[in-house]
Amino acid sequence: MNQQSRLIVEVKTELPQPSNGEAVALCVFTDEPRLCEVMDNESRSLVERLTRDGEFKGEAESTLLLHASRAQGGGARRLLLVGLGAHADFDAHTLNRAAATAVRRAREGRIEHLFFVLPSSGDARRAARAVAEGAHLGLYDNAFYRKREDRAALERLTVISTENGRRFDEEIERGRIVAEAVNWTRTLADEPGGALPPREFARRAAEMAGEFNLRVETLDASEIRERGMGGLYGVGQGSDNPPALIVLRYEPEDVSANDELWAFVGKGITFDTGGISIKHGLDMYEMKTDMAGGAAALGALRAVAQLKPRRRIIAIVPSAENMPSGRAIKPGDIVRTLAGYTIEVVDTDAEGRLVLADGIAYAKQLGATRIIDLATLTGSIIVALGDHRAGLFSNNDSWAARIEEAARRAGESLWRMPVSDDYKKRIESPIADFKNYGGRPDATAAALLLSKFAGDTPWAHLDIAGTSWLDQEQPYAPKGSTGAGVRTLVELACEAEPE
Ligand code: BES
Ligand code: MN
Ligand code: ZN
Repeated sequence: MNQQSRLIVEVKTELPQPSNGEAVALCVFTDEPRLCEVMDNESRSLVERLTRDGEFKGEAESTLLLHASRAQGGGARRLLLVGLGAHADFDAHTLNRAAATAVRRAREGRIEHLFFVLPSSGDARRAARAVAEGAHLGLYDNAFYRKREDRAALERLTVISTENGRRFDEEIERGRIVAEAVNWTRTLADEPGGALPPREFARRAAEMAGEFNLRVETLDASEIRERGMGGLYGVGQGSDNPPALIVLRYEPEDVSANDELWAFVGKGITFDTGGISIKHGLDMYEMKTDMAGGAAALGALRAVAQLKPRRRIIAIVPSAENMPSGRAIKPGDIVRTLAGYTIEVVDTDAEGRLVLADGIAYAKQLGATRIIDLATLTGSIIVALGDHRAGLFSNNDSWAARIEEAARRAGESLWRMPVSDDYKKRIESPIADFKNYGGRPDATAAALLLSKFAGDTPWAHLDIAGTSWLDQEQPYAPKGSTGAGVRTLVELACEAEPE
């Protein structure tokens, strides 16, 4: 199933005469100057009246679609006002989201071709990339199980900029590559658990790897057991759908094998019932998205394979379905992990840390010199940070700082959380090396446990349980998965080597 938008994005320096099915998107700030310059007087005075009367305030994520008069003697003309918020808060990320909001509104209004006039402040090339990326993200549609009946499509987006050139095409292409990687990730994380058991997840990863020239290796259940990955094997053993360990490799030829090897490790629970410690409540269906971290690790490599940075990166996704059954792991059972440590499974619903323990150990076995893992790991990170910030845990301040900087460039927010033995009581077991649950849901204890498997290797963990899923439709995105983490990983991968 290909969910990529077929939107064509181009840049022009002048606004042509729009006709039927076309509209012009104009950005409006909440404070002066409210509008950019490229406007004809008629539209300008219309917008001025609307803002003066308070009908459109220019707030971020707001839009207003208008049928304007036959300006300049042209045909039917529609204007789409797009709010940008205050000048002081304005940056490329505001513009990215504004573009996503604009294209969704345009599609709803059955507009086929949108002209998006860039606001004049700031770096025009960066702005063009933000608009292209935002537009592809905004058109993401996860109703892929709905019968297709005459669905509206926005086909073309023309960015109107006073500057243009070949460098603009590169930026627009980069925006497309990154957004498509995010949308590929969202498609997987929005798939129902029944449609995406571990082996199907692995098949989709391999299909993508074939398309973009990445190497792929998948370990099946018997290899997982034989290699001693008791955490991953134990979580998967209750399901009729066997676990899988997916590995993708991006290894550019001109990079030496002695150079750094980075590992993106992602939690790949294709459905989390909680197992024998079964979950209750109405929202269990959301646990179809418990492989969002794994999909993000793979999705990031999809973009990396096209952007071609000079560094070796592998993605590792331990994938299983966490089910109760007569074969399922029980509370009190002990698993022996790849690293040799044993873990007492106090609660079978704390399964993410069990599979990640093996994923991180496997990354080290494959020679990883730096690790970052992404996981929808704990409900408690949602309590702590809500859905706007992912928790960042790390054993290495300079690695954490590089990740924070990459997230800032990507427009994804992180919040640093502690990794400290202060919390070790929560992972100490009387009979095993560790336990997986300390009596209270706890993002900090989960991260501390993972850190024991990273050891001295620079490692960071992003708990994306809050940021990977939208509970409600937004002006810029549908309800469902967000692709959280992909953009941060891509920025990190493409970061210049520090001196
Ligand atoms: N996949 C869940 C975490 C989660 C919760 C993700 C809500 C997204 C939304 C994880 O496997 C889990 O069940 N965590 C438990 C752990 C607890 C039993 C120690 C939690 O955080 O409640
Ligand atoms: Mn769980
Ligand atoms: Zn889970």
